[in-house]
Amino acid sequence: DVDKSTLLTPELRAEIDRHVGKYPPEWKQSAVMPALTLVQEHNGGWLTQDLMDQVAAYLDMPEVAVYEVATFYAMYDLEPVGRHKICVCNSISCMLGGAEALLEHVEARHGVAPGETSKDGKFTLKEFECLGACRHAPVVMVDQEYHECVTRDGIDKIISKLD
Ligand code: FES
Repeated sequence: DVDKSTLLTPELRAEIDRHVGKYPPEWKQSAVMPALTLVQEHNGGWLTQDLMDQVAAYLDMPEVAVYEVATFYAMYDLEPVGRHKICVCNSISCMLGGAEALLEHVEARHGVAPGETSKDGKFTLKEFECLGACRHAPVVMVDQEYHECVTRDGIDKIISKLD
């Protein structure tokens, strides 16, 4: 059996420890979300079962509790993703503001439906719950960066600039 504990590199452990340090020792599981985020970034944008198990072991929590978090929140991906994530808000203001048309446009123009990755591996298209910038609908988050009042041309430009 391979030693999976090496999946969490010393650097990752140190970064997770910084978050763990914000809570009393008996609450170290509170760091599960930032820990998963760090591990996901380190692994090219997605989480494997082994990685989630290692986070569970590191934070002394049941593996199933970590899976629950990882499956509940849309920011975690459990399948390989493209080099970038394009997240289109699908909550009410953005839907009324044209988010659906944006999604259709990306699908028609780039052949990528929500949940799919472009053939060149450039991006994965995702739908997201309200991103908190409803007054500037429709809102699109590319990796961690917000774009507001996005038009079809706008999203084409965003995609063409991605490496
Ligand atoms: Fe889209 Fe709130 S509804 S940001």
